[in-house]
Amino acid sequence: MQAIAEINEAIDTSPGNVSERPHPEAIAEILRRGDAFRQLEETACADTRAMAARAVPGVLRPEPVHVIRCADPVRRRDSHCRHYDSHLLTMLIPLKLAPDCACNGDLLMYRRPRLSVSTLGNVMCKVTHGIHRKLPFEWRKWLTLHDLRRGHCARVPVQLGSVYVFNGFALKHSNLDVEMGQRRSLLIHYYDPGHSLGLSELVRRVRGV
Ligand SMILES: [Fe+2]
Repeated sequence: MQAIAEINEAIDTSPGNVSERPHPEAIAEILRRGDAFRQLEETACADTRAMAARAVPGVLRPEPVHVIRCADPVRRRDSHCRHYDSHLLTMLIPLKLAPDCACNGDLLMYRRPRLSVSTLGNVMCKVTHGIHRKLPFEWRKWLTLHDLRRGHCARVPVQLGSVYVFNGFALKHSNLDVEMGQRRSLLIHYYDPGHSLGLSELVRRVRGV
């Protein structure tokens, strides 16, 4: 919890200019000073490499991608955007939680994992989800709430001080918007099997994350 307080202070006291904010990799390094986080990361990475050796042909891109995601009632462009990650392993570290209310930015996990995927199938998913992302916010939110009511996805309430590890390549996921306050998370993505034909990197550059 001390590391999280240090991270939030570094973010809160940084200038508004994006280029002067703490880099997400530097934020992750603060967490890696702690034995518990380092061991969890090593174990999750080793498990993912072992799974990939059995199930994923080709070479994995080893460089992790670090992203800080902030959501509040104004910044909601990433809310209600269902998608698969390009990477096999995702670690979600909550840094700041919004007040408990109907929509507080919680993670939503869709129930049925995709069990196999071709590069073409993966690109088609990315195109479909890209179109979904362009829908008006109210439409995206209605679709999410519909999926929740029908039990297609489940809400994952998170806690500060915990780390959430999942295979975002196989499990479709999304998150609620934030009605009050701010939600802040660090996301680390590991092991890109190269099934997106560079689309994901292009999207990340365009969105500036
Ligand atoms: Fe994701």
